[in-house]
Amino acid sequence: MSARTRVLTGITTTGTPHLGNYVGAIRPALRMAQDAGTDAFFFLADYHALIKCDDPERVAGSRMQIACAWLACGLDPQRVTFYRQSDIPEIPELTWLLTCVTAKGLMNRAHAYKAAVDANTARGEDADAGITLGLYSYPVLMAADILMFGAQRVPVGRDQVQHIEMARDLAQRFNHLYGAGEDLLTLPEAVVDEDVATLPGLDGRKMSKSYDNTIPLFAGGPRALEDAIARIVTDSRRPGEPKDPDSNALCAIYRAFATREQGDAFAAELRAGLAWGEAKRRLAAQIEAEIGPMRKRYDMLTVHSDQVDEILLEGAGKAREQARPLLDTLRRAVGLRAPQPASAPVMRPVPSALVGRFVTFRAKDGHFHFRFLGADGADLLLSVPFDTPQQAGNWIGVLDKAGGASSFVWGRQGLHLEAGEHVGGHACALWYGDERLAESGPFASAEDCEAALRHLVAELEARWRSLQAG
Ligand code: TRP
Repeated sequence: MSARTRVLTGITTTGTPHLGNYVGAIRPALRMAQDAGTDAFFFLADYHALIKCDDPERVAGSRMQIACAWLACGLDPQRVTFYRQSDIPEIPELTWLLTCVTAKGLMNRAHAYKAAVDANTARGEDADAGITLGLYSYPVLMAADILMFGAQRVPVGRDQVQHIEMARDLAQRFNHLYGAGEDLLTLPEAVVDEDVATLPGLDGRKMSKSYDNTIPLFAGGPRALEDAIARIVTDSRRPGEPKDPDSNALCAIYRAFATREQGDAFAAELRAGLAWGEAKRRLAAQIEAEIGPMRKRYDMLTVHSDQVDEILLEGAGKAREQARPLLDTLRRAVGLRAPQPASAPVMRPVPSALVGRFVTFRAKDGHFHFRFLGADGADLLLSVPFDTPQQAGNWIGVLDKAGGASSFVWGRQGLHLEAGEHVGGHACALWYGDERLAESGPFASAEDCEAALRHLVAELEARWRSLQAG
């Protein structure tokens, strides 16, 4: 693992982001991700959302809104690995491996479950009325979220600390049972930021959807922001009368968007008689100065949700590069062979004389290349120049393994084949990430190029099948 600290946190995708989320979670997380020593993984915990919500439209809408909000607030997907939990099939796989080492008694103590049982009992109902296994065992899913990526530090709210402790317990138990002295899973640590004050809502209690006292972050534009602020509960002191700045939420919210000096000046003016109406106007302006530019980006992203999907899928690709090898190790540790990727072609043996092959050669200019020759000896792919024959050979090794490799090897982050325009016409190219490895062509038309690409894929698949057959 790199010298940077792996920091991971999940955002349950229910509801629409409000100022409390921004001040308490989004802003501090993004500041932390700025640190060069931090390797941040932030993800949309959309499997967790299913525990709380069974309305498909709301589930879909909320995770898109929240993705757009984090991006609009400045999350840089180049720097942070940002993905949807449900795009990582390795997470539910790990969840099951962990479930099998989880003591039921441990889950009995999880406070979300206990609170639900207490509420049932208080109402005189059956203790487990309306409680799903999803709610009951969600600390195991959360442990998988964390352990899948070897997270060292997990920033969370106070209410989540118990879950991180449980993740440590499960990791320890798994290591003990299956590690043969090795730490297969990294023990995470909860990080609770005491400096981040919880933002009060309109009524002075903690800003929370469950109290219906929130101020929207972006939804509804500046008007909705002003309307919500107008509903902050104040007393009836009139303009000119001295006011207690701590008697309601106004000043605390102001301070969350201001420097200490600005906050002190605001409080002093209230003590000196500033009218509540004017104070609310200033509060709205102060917040708008920070989030107005973000709202513009948010509105842009919302109309280009296909681009947001693409960003999230790239993030999932990066995340899976980490998850798959670890999960394969864990599967072996518990006695399950490494899985065959679902997307791998069905392997049927092909006699080796009938399949294509790679060759390396040295060009006149001294550089080394590889070629892929079809079963009939036709030239299908020519590599870019390499300085050493080893480099060419290594790529051949990668390509020969790519047939049986997990699907994450293929994709925009890894290997991909593309037909496209190129100098001199149309060409097929093989890429690794943004590195062009090899190409074929040029072809006179796009159709010829597409046909060549299909032929190339068929020849590669035939080679992989014969390699698999030994
Ligand atoms: N359960 C967390 C919450 O409600 C969200 C979450 C899911 C999470 N998976 C996680 C947080 C993993 C940290 C790490 O806030």
